[in-house]
Amino acid sequence: MGVTITPLHPLFAAEVSGVDASATLSQAVLAALMEAIDRYSVLVLRGQKLSDDQQIAFASLFGPPEINIGAHRAASQRRLARVEMADVSNVNPANEVHRRDDKRRMFNLGNMLWHTDSSFRDPPGGLSLLYAHAVPSRGGETEFADLRAAYAALDDETKALVADLHAEHSIMHSRASLGFTEFSESERAALPPVMQRVVRTHPGSGRKTLYLASHASHIIGWPVPEGRLLLRDLIEFATRREFVFVHHWRAGDLVIWDNRCTLHRGRPYPLDERRDLRRVTTADHAAMAEKAA
Ligand code: OGA
Ligand code: MN
Repeated sequence: MGVTITPLHPLFAAEVSGVDASATLSQAVLAALMEAIDRYSVLVLRGQKLSDDQQIAFASLFGPPEINIGAHRAASQRRLARVEMADVSNVNPANEVHRRDDKRRMFNLGNMLWHTDSSFRDPPGGLSLLYAHAVPSRGGETEFADLRAAYAALDDETKALVADLHAEHSIMHSRASLGFTEFSESERAALPPVMQRVVRTHPGSGRKTLYLASHASHIIGWPVPEGRLLLRDLIEFATRREFVFVHHWRAGDLVIWDNRCTLHRGRPYPLDERRDLRRVTTADHAAMAEKAA
């Protein structure tokens, strides 16, 4: 079966057909996928049938999966056995939809802010692979913004301004910005803030990209309010509609995105409906080397 790549947006995002992510892939197919990721940043594979183990095995072809930050939770609080799996669902281990004030729901609501996965970790997120087991009858889309295109569209003055800046990223910051501050001392200690460049070179394409997220709280060396305003301005610019692709989920969709050069956010959906999405994210070890250089 041949691999077909069909663009979904004028700037980025493509649908890939002819790939069964549960099967053993040839080197040629894997190379075609990697090339497509470097070109399009977001790939949509429809009609997949994946167990958690198969999703993790497929993700591992692109890099070492990170251990999810929810893995430390007590087993009784966790629905999914594998520590590589982020539970992006609204379902508890008893298979019931979370109550409105459930702590896990509060935490996952942070996914509705524009972000890139694990920018608050060292190493940060590389690729994310999100697979849909069940989707609500309406809403619950995931939106993506193209940060390479946004960087290219900045005026020269702004490019010069941001060229050498670093931002501090923390999961506590993005959650606190929504009024969610219920982190224990051990959670805080396990996830200290990290510094990230605001402009990076995307390794697969050599193109410059912004690197932004709701997790970014301020610019190193700048007064906090001034840096926070700049970060807000940059996210506002980068998420103008012309830079955004909207994915409408169906059960069986596997979406792969490159956290190094995109932002994403989830959209609301009916409170009482199940949405069971599960994510594996690879660790971007190359980013650490770039930062140290
Ligand atoms: C994620 C995420 C958004 C969504 O899985 O990393 O941000 O639409 N998801 O669920
Ligand atoms: Mn995310």
